[in-house]
Amino acid sequence: MKIFQFGLISILCALRAFSGLKVDHVIELVVDVVKSTDKATSVIAHVCWRSSKQIKMMTRLMSLYNPKTVQFVNKYWIATEPMFQERVLVITDLNCPETKEFLEKASSTKKFALPYRWLIIGKPINESSAAAVSIEIDSLNFLTDSDVVLAQMKDDDSFILRMAYKMKPNSTWITEKFGTWSPQDGLKKTELTHSSISTRRKNFDGAPIKTAMVILDNKTRSDPYDLTDILADTVTKSSFRSTDPIYGYLNATKSFIFSETWGYYKNGTYGGMVAELTVGDAELAGTVLIATQDRMEVVDFLSCPIPISVKFVFREPPLSYQNNLFLLPFKTSVWYCMGAFVLVLTLILYINALWEHKKLEKNKMNEMDPTALKPNISEIVILVLSAVSQQGSYTELKGTLGRIVMFILFLAFLLLYSAYSASIVALLQSSSNQIRTLSDLLNSRLELGVEDTPYNRYFFGIASEPIRKAIYQTKIAPEGRKARFMSIEQGVKKLQKEPFAFNMNKGIGYRLVERYFHEHEKCGLQEIAYLDDTKTYITCRKHSPYKEMFKIGLFRIKEHGLSDREDRLIYARKPACHARGGSFGSVNMVDFHPVLVMYLYGIMLAFLLLAIEILAHRKIDFQR
Ligand SMILES: *[C@@H]1O[C@H](CO)[C@@H](O)[C@H](O)[C@H]1NC(C)=O
Ligand SMILES: *[C@@H]1O[C@H](CO)[C@@H](O)[C@H](O)[C@H]1NC(C)=O
Ligand SMILES: *[C@@H]1O[C@H](CO)[C@@H](O)[C@H](O)[C@H]1NC(C)=O
Ligand SMILES: *[C@@H]1O[C@H](CO)[C@@H](O)[C@H](O)[C@H]1NC(C)=O
Ligand SMILES: *[C@@H]1O[C@H](CO)[C@@H](O)[C@H](O)[C@H]1NC(C)=O
Repeated sequence: MKIFQFGLISILCALRAFSGLKVDHVIELVVDVVKSTDKATSVIAHVCWRSSKQIKMMTRLMSLYNPKTVQFVNKYWIATEPMFQERVLVITDLNCPETKEFLEKASSTKKFALPYRWLIIGKPINESSAAAVSIEIDSLNFLTDSDVVLAQMKDDDSFILRMAYKMKPNSTWITEKFGTWSPQDGLKKTELTHSSISTRRKNFDGAPIKTAMVILDNKTRSDPYDLTDILADTVTKSSFRSTDPIYGYLNATKSFIFSETWGYYKNGTYGGMVAELTVGDAELAGTVLIATQDRMEVVDFLSCPIPISVKFVFREPPLSYQNNLFLLPFKTSVWYCMGAFVLVLTLILYINALWEHKKLEKNKMNEMDPTALKPNISEIVILVLSAVSQQGSYTELKGTLGRIVMFILFLAFLLLYSAYSASIVALLQSSSNQIRTLSDLLNSRLELGVEDTPYNRYFFGIASEPIRKAIYQTKIAPEGRKARFMSIEQGVKKLQKEPFAFNMNKGIGYRLVERYFHEHEKCGLQEIAYLDDTKTYITCRKHSPYKEMFKIGLFRIKEHGLSDREDRLIYARKPACHARGGSFGSVNMVDFHPVLVMYLYGIMLAFLLLAIEILAHRKIDFQR
């Protein structure tokens, strides 16, 4: 290794001696700058140096410890999109003739923005004119997210390194001292560079940040901070209140642009707030926006200050809305067993009756007794039915054996009957927790309603997944009828009175639930999400130079608990259930429905049988 290093150094010395160059300060400067970052770096150099100088720079850079690549490029490189943009460090020399054009092209392809880094070797300067930026780059716009170091040589072979940026296009330059370089001491960075670019350039000096907001109620325009009418524009107010500290953090003033909707994709364009960010001149969106794929392409999503959830909320419906209560007390197997039991008993009764009949046949007197059970299927069935329904029967078996059978029959059904009626009483008062998914909701008897907001109208309208589409088309906006969009207040009141599921912003809806519902009505509230992902974000203009500052500011607001405070202040949580079972509900028609249906069928069957009987009799008469 030593020998190899020695060899390399002697080759370099030989090269230097051969080409007659003195120590090239520019190359040493470049090497020191590259060395001073701990990032992986691919150096892109657009220079007009002699090849010997280029080779030398390459050799020096390649011998550094960090992974490096070096590439010498011509002006056409600027039109390409490099692979690992965050590694790129572009080096260029203002003393070269083509550089001005190169820089202008770079500016038009946004190469001065994050994450590119630049080192521009400027023309030698006088100490006196150190504050100004060279005339070649004066018209360019290095904005706040640029990372451009200008290195200019002073008289004494040393360099002064500065970073220059503008707060907004065409404004004045602001320079930061990056450091100095001298042949003796190498690179000396200033203390400024210890903090990151986005935190040290965050001072807007009172300049306005244009903020777009969605205002649905004109009263909110004058003071979005005001919470006296908490139900108007709640989302706007909560997002505004949780982004407001950012103006202080950035030392900026507020300037609002109001839109009437969030902005949805239609025929290649957006409306509302998204349009203010894409074609208008808003920099930040102060109202949270639901993240969708098409919006991701046109705006940058920053942070989610307050999770807002929009869901179907409903009270658990009574059990009878989903089931036939009269079948529920026994499990299916028990029902089958009972059926078998009835059959077996009928058989036994029949045999018993037959036997008794035979035995008593000799005794002519017994023939007259009308209360004796005859071995006749219809008589026996009537007896069993009377036992099942807890009634008596005037016929009976007369022998000891027969009486024991009858006793067992009545006892068994007495016990079953007590179990059944006890269970029905409990079931009549209980509620169903069987609605758990959207398809349950679709197939349930619940009515559906949706809070009337632009986002609900849009997202419900474009639903393409089969179940969601079916819900929209059959239950929310059925063809030829009024779509069931309603104000949140109306919806919550309906939720209280009827079997109804309401899609609402939970935080606001629960506030109304707290206001209107009785204690026992707050029990059994269920939620089902309809919109896939309703995570909402504060957004900014795509490729905004202030994006990182906004992000840091918003995260700080969140980390300091300010958004959380607003969340607790504005949105209500799901109300706790303190009085479950304290309520009493009368049996309603829905509970009772199966019984009526059975009665109806019974009547129909009776008439049918009557008709058959009449017909049969006529036939018999006719045959006679
Ligand atoms: C430095 O500035 C002074 C006065 O502004 C000027 O006379 C001198 O020529 C300049 N030197 C160089 C190297 O530009
Ligand atoms: C900046 O100035 C240039 C030239 O004067 C002009 O074309 C451009 O529109 C200006 N940009 C802004 C954002 O004002
Ligand atoms: C904030 O901006 C004002 C100008 O509006 C300026 O006077 C003040 O010094 C700035 N504050 C800080 C901390 O930079
Ligand atoms: C709100 O104010 C704007 C402009 O002042 C007006 O165009 C709009 O019609 C108003 N909206 C309502 C609901 O009053
Ligand atoms: C969108 O395009 C369709 C046809 O391509 C047209 O019928 C409709 O009017 C357009 N809508 C808007 C808002 O431009």
